[in-house]
Amino acid sequence: MIFVTGGAGFIGSNFVLGWLAERDEPVINLDKLTYAGNRDNLAALESDSRHLFVQGDIGDTKLVDDLLRRHQPRVIVNFAAESHVDRSIHGPDAFIQTNIVGTFRLLEAVRAYWGGLPAAAKEAFRFVHVSTDEVYGSLEPQADAFTESHPYAPNSPYSASKAASDHLVRAYHHTYGLPVLTTNCSNNYGPYHFPEKLIPLMIVNALAGLPLPVYGDGRQVRDWLYVGDHCSAIRRVIEAGRPGETYNVGGWNEKPNIEIVQTVCALLDELRPRAGGTSYRELITYVKDRPGHDRRYAIDAGKIERELGWRPAETFESGIRKTILWYLENASWVARVQDGSYREWIATNYDARTASAP
Ligand code: NAD
Ligand code: TYD
Repeated sequence: MIFVTGGAGFIGSNFVLGWLAERDEPVINLDKLTYAGNRDNLAALESDSRHLFVQGDIGDTKLVDDLLRRHQPRVIVNFAAESHVDRSIHGPDAFIQTNIVGTFRLLEAVRAYWGGLPAAAKEAFRFVHVSTDEVYGSLEPQADAFTESHPYAPNSPYSASKAASDHLVRAYHHTYGLPVLTTNCSNNYGPYHFPEKLIPLMIVNALAGLPLPVYGDGRQVRDWLYVGDHCSAIRRVIEAGRPGETYNVGGWNEKPNIEIVQTVCALLDELRPRAGGTSYRELITYVKDRPGHDRRYAIDAGKIERELGWRPAETFESGIRKTILWYLENASWVARVQDGSYREWIATNYDARTASAP
């Protein structure tokens, strides 16, 4: 079986659902169920005996030791993390605890388990660490996209904590020979994306008739990848990646934020026109920028394409349409995740961001 951490979050739940749709190998899913973890995402697996869900912390050594010994996984995929930059600015502690200390404790437990495996199982074992392009910092407008040898220069508490975890993972290969692989992926979007991040926030705010808050001048660039394509890249890395290597994953799809917001508005105008015939674009509101806001990320995915034959299946046009249709068809999921703690976060992040000129 495989052992997934953070599999009730956005990417992790898409990964678990995709894995079990494709093959019969069971999944043990360890997730702390923070505000970002949601068992609803896995509702389709409720009576599926191939999915074993355990609520717990990657930093709980006794629990992880016990699960590893009992279930003997051949692969670990570590998605568990605090993942939102704005939350890391308001409260970095949880990022240090989970992303750095938690990853360290997980690595220690895995090292002990792996060390005791018989030779063939030890050889075949893989630890896949799921990371982000944000560890590379911000690119100038004309600079080449990030390759795997780009120096790390993280700028937010989130990206700094992910960078620290990447370094620990790397060191466990170099020092102990643990067969680790790291993926550094660009911004994902798709179903089950928690509506604190740009694309789902814009969709749910638009549908509720609320302002669409664009930070600063809206010209910051991100490189967007449909979540299903990120999951297929991770499956490919498990199958064929070389231990000790890192793989950048991206969609060759750089876009300024304002263009993303306008695309969301245009698709909603088509699929769910507003009463009165006005465009959702009227809700776009420029607000105070994020402190330390990275200007541009862009991924060169040449290595994973060349070495592992991976390519994204979706274009941005197909992926964003699918995503918006998913949100339109899953209004009850959206309503359930917008609980009291969500509303508190929205007030914390946006109340002080009064409208400003772009
Ligand atoms: P998410 O915030 O939606 O989900 C994170 C999950 O981890 C949640 O289910 C949460 O309950 C769980 N978790 C948090 N702390 C935990 C702990 N201590 N122990 C066990 N579980 C814990 O995040 P996501 O967007 O699905 O991202 C998953 C991973 O992919 C993260 O490591 C993130 O850094 C990385 N990543 C994300 C993106 C993106 O665009 N979302 C892009 C590249 C890489
Ligand atoms: P986000 O989805 O938080 O991902 P990340 O910061 O990890 O790239 O944000 C994507 C971009 O959208 C980023 O440049 C910040 C911007 N943004 C807004 O303009 N308004 C918002 O309300 C949010 C959440 C993000």
